[in-house]
Amino acid sequence: MTPDADNPGLDLGELRHAQPPAPRADGAVPLGPTGRPVREFPDPAPRISHGPAKVIAICNQKGGVGKTTTTINLGASLASYGRRVLLVDLDPQGALSAGLGVAHHELDLTVHNLLMESAVSADDVLLRTRVDGLDLLPSNIDLSAAEIQLVNEVGREQTLARALHPILDRYDYVLIDCQPSLGLLTVNALACAESVIIPMECEYFSLRGLALLTDTVEKVRDRLNFRLRLAGIVVTMYDSRTLHARDVMARVVEVFGDKVYDTAISRTVRFPETSVAGEPITSWAPKSSGAAAYRQLAREVIEREEG
Ligand SMILES: Nc1ncnc2c1ncn2[C@@H]1O[C@H](COP(=O)(O)OP(=O)(O)O)[C@@H](O)[C@H]1O
Ligand SMILES: [Mg+2]
Repeated sequence: MTPDADNPGLDLGELRHAQPPAPRADGAVPLGPTGRPVREFPDPAPRISHGPAKVIAICNQKGGVGKTTTTINLGASLASYGRRVLLVDLDPQGALSAGLGVAHHELDLTVHNLLMESAVSADDVLLRTRVDGLDLLPSNIDLSAAEIQLVNEVGREQTLARALHPILDRYDYVLIDCQPSLGLLTVNALACAESVIIPMECEYFSLRGLALLTDTVEKVRDRLNFRLRLAGIVVTMYDSRTLHARDVMARVVEVFGDKVYDTAISRTVRFPETSVAGEPITSWAPKSSGAAAYRQLAREVIEREEG
């Protein structure tokens, strides 16, 4: 393979053509998109008590890979299984807030105030969403100043962790929607998370940035947050009909093994439609395959995190 400046220390190699899963004549379990046997994830048992939250950063420095879509729909699905969920919009674009129907340009208080003003608490910024059990710390373009303002703060990488700490006991999951960069805001997310979920668009060029990302996760673990781990990689915009998608999936599984979630999210226009509707797909089109996929991902996440 050719040396790749984007990919220090991790050989993502060349794509080889993957064989489509062979039909199983022996009646054995069919194979899923990852090439592993399809598993059923049971409906999780209800929680009797809540908290302390598992904080998960939804992270990839590439834009348009499904971070925000995954944050909204995994969050809503976890909530539908009785988990208390807080979503944190850590992208100045505010797509997470907009995707949940929040008029984010008109907000008085956002994550920016929470990070920059010690008098502002998470409760001051917190919004309930239309989904039961799903709360939001919203953002808008104001947050774009934070990256520069934070540079001069003492303990700048731990600012978000300090701000979230008082409310972690109330939630089972906190999902942080990161911006498409590995700058100080994303480092803040990684510094307060216990794990990272990487959404990856099922496309060859998406493989290239993964090593830089896993390298950053390792650096943050070594220097700021020793308990940080990679929870998993969720392949998005998957199209099982194309050879290219199957090749990319096979390569990701070869490199990351069991870290790749069994659940892949297929490409469907229903997702762009829901962004316009300002609702999770799980409530806007609950019977759609996209909604079913994110509910399955939630069951898989619960099994891995709580099982
Ligand atoms: N599985 C999918 N199939 C088709 N379109 C998708 C899918 N997931 C996300 N999208 C769309 O792709 C665009 C980028 O997704 P988004 O979640 O905003 O990515 P990111 O937050 O990584 O920038 C959005 O328009 C979104 O609706
Ligand atoms: Mg986004």
